[in-house]
Amino acid sequence: MNVEQIRTHYPGLQAGIYLNTGGVGQPSRQVQAAIEAGYHKLYHDHMPPIDWYVAMVQEAEAVRQKIAVFLGAGDDEMALTLSTADGYASVLGGLRWQTGDEVVITSEEHPMPYDAVQGLAQREGVVVKVVDLDPDPDVVLSRVEQALTPRTRMICFSHVTTDTGYRLPAQAICTLARQRGILTLWDGCQAVGQFPLNLNDMGCDFYAANCYKWLLGPIGTGFLYVRQEALQILKPLLRPHDPQGNASQYKMGNPSNALYLGLGASLDFITSLGGPQAIAAEVGRKADALRARFAAISGVQFLGPQRPETQTGVVSFTIAGMDGDQVSSALKTRWNMTQRATYITRPSGVRISVAFYTSQAELDTLVKAVTVLAGQHGHG
Ligand SMILES: Cc1ncc(COP(=O)(O)O)c(C=O)c1O
Repeated sequence: MNVEQIRTHYPGLQAGIYLNTGGVGQPSRQVQAAIEAGYHKLYHDHMPPIDWYVAMVQEAEAVRQKIAVFLGAGDDEMALTLSTADGYASVLGGLRWQTGDEVVITSEEHPMPYDAVQGLAQREGVVVKVVDLDPDPDVVLSRVEQALTPRTRMICFSHVTTDTGYRLPAQAICTLARQRGILTLWDGCQAVGQFPLNLNDMGCDFYAANCYKWLLGPIGTGFLYVRQEALQILKPLLRPHDPQGNASQYKMGNPSNALYLGLGASLDFITSLGGPQAIAAEVGRKADALRARFAAISGVQFLGPQRPETQTGVVSFTIAGMDGDQVSSALKTRWNMTQRATYITRPSGVRISVAFYTSQAELDTLVKAVTVLAGQHGHG
């Protein structure tokens, strides 16, 4: 990839060193232009409202079809949503629960899915079980297996965790769940856009994400995947259920369709760069090199995944003698680096998101900064 050339499409990268794609991804010029063109049509072209509304619904529908193809989903199985939470609400709220049903989560869920299952527990008397992550994915898999009982109804995991970027063995977990008749709901926020994904092959029942992180689409866009067979059991929250219908029955209200045009532009641009395959190769190469350089700095300790198949563009670490907030604010104030402290896992560290548009010079500055900070605390 010609990173310097690619970076010219992302104006936000000029403002400093941006290492927080796992928080909010950078919108490209193409994304901004598509959104602006959409709103221009709405508010300045003075078309009769019903005409622009219909035109934009059709354009958003084309984006829905595009993302279904992009993620290896059947056309009927994909709905556009506003957020991950929106998808979670449809799934957790649209299934029938019995008191004592069990839901399994990981020890590193983002507050949104964590709170969503706690709320379910409160409303429906569901029991939440937590599987502790381990650097060895085989250990995670056997812990998942041990957590399953005849009462287990759903496994509700992040595909890639938010603090340490741990890529879970999703296909193996889905296979295990299907063998036991257990449903799976995945939070794909940190996964989509990082590597190729085929939801049909993965074997999940439900997969929800937003599109503003690694997919680099606008805030306010998301999707919900519902496997063909699961369409028959998931009841929409606000309309009658059509067991023969498609996933769009879970879409709620009229969204701001101009935002989906921005999402479409991002998918097109990512595809023009070689798609998720090329992105995964670029990110993997850079993140591996960063990990190797960090490993050589005394006092720096990695958090989370250690085996290559579980690692992603998220690189989280601690510096001995400093907590995550201290490291994070030093990187921001002294080197103008946007990143964030980890806040779910302990000890607290810093999360760096390495994206395909991250430059070598930025990573060199990061390594220098971490060397300085570790040195100031008796290491280096
Ligand atoms: C893993 C994960 N899940 C959920 C969310 C929140 O998603 P949304 O705001 O789309 O509901 C985030 C965003 O930070 C996340 O990283």
